[in-house]
Amino acid sequence: MSGVDIRAVSLALSGANVESFNTNGQVAVTGRGREITQEDIARVHEAARAVSISMDREILHVIPRSYTVDDQKGIRNPLHMTGVRLECGVHIITGSVSTVQNMFKCVTRAGYRVEQSYLGILGCARTVLTEDERDLGCLLIDVGGGTTDFMIFSESEPVFTSAVPAGGSQITGDISIMLSIPVDAAERLKKESGAAWSDAVDPDETVIVPGFGAREPVELERRKLVSIVQPRVEEIFEMVNERLMKNGLKDLIKAGVVLTGGSALLPHIDECARSIFGVPVRIGAPAALSGLDVEYRSPAFSAVVGVALLEAERTGAIAESGGSRKKTRKGRQGGFSLMQWIKDRFF
Ligand SMILES: Nc1ncnc2c1ncn2[C@@H]1O[C@H](COP(=O)(O)OP(=O)(O)OP(=O)(O)O)[C@@H](O)[C@H]1O
Ligand SMILES: [Mg+2]
Repeated sequence: MSGVDIRAVSLALSGANVESFNTNGQVAVTGRGREITQEDIARVHEAARAVSISMDREILHVIPRSYTVDDQKGIRNPLHMTGVRLECGVHIITGSVSTVQNMFKCVTRAGYRVEQSYLGILGCARTVLTEDERDLGCLLIDVGGGTTDFMIFSESEPVFTSAVPAGGSQITGDISIMLSIPVDAAERLKKESGAAWSDAVDPDETVIVPGFGAREPVELERRKLVSIVQPRVEEIFEMVNERLMKNGLKDLIKAGVVLTGGSALLPHIDECARSIFGVPVRIGAPAALSGLDVEYRSPAFSAVVGVALLEAERTGAIAESGGSRKKTRKGRQGGFSLMQWIKDRFF
């Protein structure tokens, strides 16, 4: 549609058995006058990523969180500061080697070159979250088709990234089985009449379950359809919530939950999420951008729009705009942007 001949692509990966951990690296500042250089920063990143991970996993992203120069903590950008010891805390995201390789293979066989790849949820974070949400602490959930990815931010830093292997396809599968209709009919019914919160649906409202083969179409209370959808959505959120509780992260999400991804289009999914997480919930979609057709300002396009932005920033096609340059909270210095975080990655 754009008329552009596309040869290389930037991938928005999802699921890939994503796991994360936080660690740090340390180096001595050796240059003249003990002034921290770009090389020192590169060295401390190297030191931080020198961790052993199991053979079947690979590092997808190494995101610098903040730096410590000698005893001064919480520094955003240590370049040109003076010190003896430079430390960097990083958020490392890993994925399964085979999942990532299969995705690369698919794209290559389709005749494209993989230019860069990003975990899709980083794209979502780039275009959906506000600076205040990231700062105060929030849980971003990308409810997709086969997986639900999620990420926690606190004090503008990524804290935890993970995924659960369930999403909209499971909801469609449940509808198909429970109503004995083909998957494509179940998918249509879900999109046209599904909802994730039964109390919000009029008890008198009915929907038509399409017939197929010798079976006639039948009328069904919409609430019955919702009673199939809601438990699965609750189950997905409960899995995410359990992961939060287990890791002691629940208190961090002061700004609440932001839902995005195609399944965030399910009506009343925010109410369902609120009942599980007990915090405010909003639906997030790509921010207004010049040139972005209104059709793509839907939660289903968050990852793709965000990844396009991150890649445009990486290649210098557009200027970085991820965050304020004036942020000084807790003595942090310099600007902040998501791009700055994920400059060091392995792909
Ligand atoms: N209007 C809608 N109502 C309910 N569900 C919808 C709607 N539109 C799309 N979906 C669901 O969203 C899901 C796809 O979401 P999305 O495009 O975010 O997934 P994906 O990124 O391709 O997959 P994944 O993240 O799992 O790899 C499908 O299950 C689809 O049924
Ligand atoms: Mg997705």
